[in-house]
Amino acid sequence: MTEDRKERQREMYRAPDPAEGPLTTDQGVAVDHTDDSLTVGERGPTLMEDFHFREKITHFDHERIPERVVHARGAGAYGYFEPYESCAEFTRAAFLQDPSVRTPVFVRFSTVQGPRGSADTVRDVRGFATKFYTSEGNYDLVGNNMPVFFIQDGIKFPDFVHALKPEPQNEIPTGASAHDTLWDFVSLQPETMHMMMWLMSDRAIPRSYRMMQGFGVHTFRFVDAQGRGTFVKFHWKPKLGVHSLVWDEAQECAGRDPDFNRRDLWEAIEAGQYPEYELGVQLIPEEDEFNFDVDLLDATKIIPEEQVPVRPIGHMVLDRNPDNFFAETEQVAFHTANVVPGIDFTNDPLLQARNFSYLDTQLIRLGGPNFAQLPVNQPVAPARTNQRDGYHQSTLHTGTNYSPNSLGGGCPALAGADGYAFSHYAERVEGHKIRKRSESFKDFYSQAALFWNSMSDWERRHIVDAFRFELGKVEAVHVRERTVEQLAQVDYDLATQVAQGIGVALPEPGANNHKPQASPALSLENLQGDGS
Ligand code: HEM
Repeated sequence: MTEDRKERQREMYRAPDPAEGPLTTDQGVAVDHTDDSLTVGERGPTLMEDFHFREKITHFDHERIPERVVHARGAGAYGYFEPYESCAEFTRAAFLQDPSVRTPVFVRFSTVQGPRGSADTVRDVRGFATKFYTSEGNYDLVGNNMPVFFIQDGIKFPDFVHALKPEPQNEIPTGASAHDTLWDFVSLQPETMHMMMWLMSDRAIPRSYRMMQGFGVHTFRFVDAQGRGTFVKFHWKPKLGVHSLVWDEAQECAGRDPDFNRRDLWEAIEAGQYPEYELGVQLIPEEDEFNFDVDLLDATKIIPEEQVPVRPIGHMVLDRNPDNFFAETEQVAFHTANVVPGIDFTNDPLLQARNFSYLDTQLIRLGGPNFAQLPVNQPVAPARTNQRDGYHQSTLHTGTNYSPNSLGGGCPALAGADGYAFSHYAERVEGHKIRKRSESFKDFYSQAALFWNSMSDWERRHIVDAFRFELGKVEAVHVRERTVEQLAQVDYDLATQVAQGIGVALPEPGANNHKPQASPALSLENLQGDGS
């Protein structure tokens, strides 16, 4: 079974049992004294020839690597995924065919904004990234605990993250998302409003990683054995239900136990209370692409479940804690472009940017091009490549390394046309090169209003309180006012309550506020404006 293959693979990388022999150097030379450096006499200078001292200190000096530029703080676990039934009707992905096949997984949960040492229970989005070690290579579903995102195009990601991170001059504040730069950006970039509603809701302070949903966010594409595509949105649902802290609890936990969420995950797994999540999909036939009020390529929108129900297709159980936080949870490298035959991309411009960004950032974070050889990142499917050399190369390649090649040796043959290999979905695309967002992305408020309208009274109170708390910390009055103006486009009552709480004037009710504009009907004709 594949589950054993990942465990067997990890076994090969475990360090020798320290109980079985003495301390050694990196070269395996036994050491009989590690508490005093080699000196001339008892009080004299330290000697350069003390190789044990130099190796020990040098290694220590190089222990840190850069933390992730976002999602720096996290907790991970191993487990397995099992489909409920074959999904062959929609996708040829091998791990979604046979309910008797368990696919090993590694999951990393994270906060987004804070550094590695920040507190768990801050108001923030949570990452929910899953690496499936499938028989056809690694598939990464790199999602969040909210179904939408702040921006529509990845080119804005550096701006958004710079605004979200602490002020550049003094690195204050950390933790909460309350400072002028974020709200300045948000109020000038109204596509953020839907996600800001989620961020100000209790979803942003989950009680536990075991009690949190996950979403792939983007529209992806399933591809079946005949090459037919179906749009797909991914949903993880926790078996324990969705639970949140309330703000007072979250603040107290952050002070008393900054590791609250990662401790909860670790202890539950140690106690045999394995977190479990159901994977569901929303499936949209390609011919229905333009039958929605929103553009499927816009990551700031959901497809309402009343329109496309979520179909459960399998479940995941997390049943093993990592052996080593740094080697596994810190060095794991997720990437939206790690896909397997049967799962493909769409032209969502946020997804396309991510498909560039993750590998690029990992080249620096993990010190060169060979991090796929690290145990946590290694596929259980054999990797046979012509890639060679580079920092941290640890594979003993033999033979030649180029293609085409008639000399054989280490050079692998290409896969035949037997359907085993990944082949990119042959989508027809045509158009002019332009920098212009489609009109179909431009309704920024309807779904923010939908979210607000779906809340109960107490949920609304929490949202208002959150806006008051966070905006109440913003010093620039014009930023507070402009944010309230944005909120008035979502719901005038919400804007009124927030404005009262933070002492700013309300915009006049009426013109263009609180009644979201319907987006222009989506059709191929209406999309012709993109220059195609
Ligand atoms: C890291 C999710 C948008 C760049 C992560 C992680 C998650 C995630 C879960 C942490 C992975 C881990 O645990 O190691 C998302 C989601 C997005 C999104 C759901 C939107 C739907 C973006 C965009 C960019 C980006 C638009 C850049 C254009 C990064 C980078 C990292 C990261 C650079 C650090 C990766 C590393 O160092 O290994 N993201 N992200 N993300 N994300 Fe995103």
